[in-house]
Amino acid sequence: MNPKIRELARILSKMKRGAALTGAGVSSESGVPTFRGKDGLWNKYRPEDLATPEAFMRNPKLVWEWYNWRIKLVKSTEPNPAHYTLKEFESIFEEFHTITQNVDNLHQKAGSKNVIELHGNLLRARCTGCGKIYTDFEIREGELPRCPECGALLRPDVVWFGEMLPPDALRKSFEIARNSEFFFVIGTSAVVYPAAQLPFEAKEMGALIIEVNIEKTPVTAIADFSFMGKAGEILPEILEELKNVKD
Ligand code: OAD
Repeated sequence: MNPKIRELARILSKMKRGAALTGAGVSSESGVPTFRGKDGLWNKYRPEDLATPEAFMRNPKLVWEWYNWRIKLVKSTEPNPAHYTLKEFESIFEEFHTITQNVDNLHQKAGSKNVIELHGNLLRARCTGCGKIYTDFEIREGELPRCPECGALLRPDVVWFGEMLPPDALRKSFEIARNSEFFFVIGTSAVVYPAAQLPFEAKEMGALIIEVNIEKTPVTAIADFSFMGKAGEILPEILEELKNVKD
């Protein structure tokens, strides 16, 4: 066992309130592509063509085709040991929240209950007219999905570039970051704001910062523990050691 993991587990075993900020890297071992880096989505596609309100107004068909591909993809994936570890953290600690930038629903699929979605969810659509949310919507080839209530166009219920984050989710995330004794930052490049502000907020309020990533990020410099490796491997090791210490 990595001695750093043992030391971390000893410290965490005395703590009650914590949270994790997750990004695309937490789902990459499930087969969901990340955004940045060599195989990242933003390396192949231009966000301004697919993930902005202007792109949707210009060409809703193209945007829906791309989202439909992503919806099918995430529906075919399963949570990995990183997601399951975070779910277990909810029963190990008195209070534990997962704040995610991901839209793939995999934390919920793993069984996590305290999930805050900062960027929405691919499995929901929202009416551009009346605002009604749909979790059960069908996209037919060549057709644009419309609201059964008011007939306006439906759009993916995700946050696009240039849009505000859901205010309640954002407020709650900052509140949690400020109240956490420990704060994990897992699989995020930590460059997209305001989500990327959360670890700094937590650090300022005295939280222990633990980063898990396969590479360095802007958070590495403020991390008390930095684990360079795959989330699906490191998190279960932390969980196992934590259980040993608690026994
Ligand atoms: P990124 O693609 O920017 O970053 C993914 C991070 O995960 C990188 O730092 C990788 O090093 C790391 N990573 C990859 N595989 C990993 C693994 N197995 N274990 C641990 N770490 C791993 O994704 P996000 O940070 O989530 O926003 O991107 C933030 C936001 O930018 C997204 O929510 C999305 C995007 O544009 C919107 O769509 C609004």
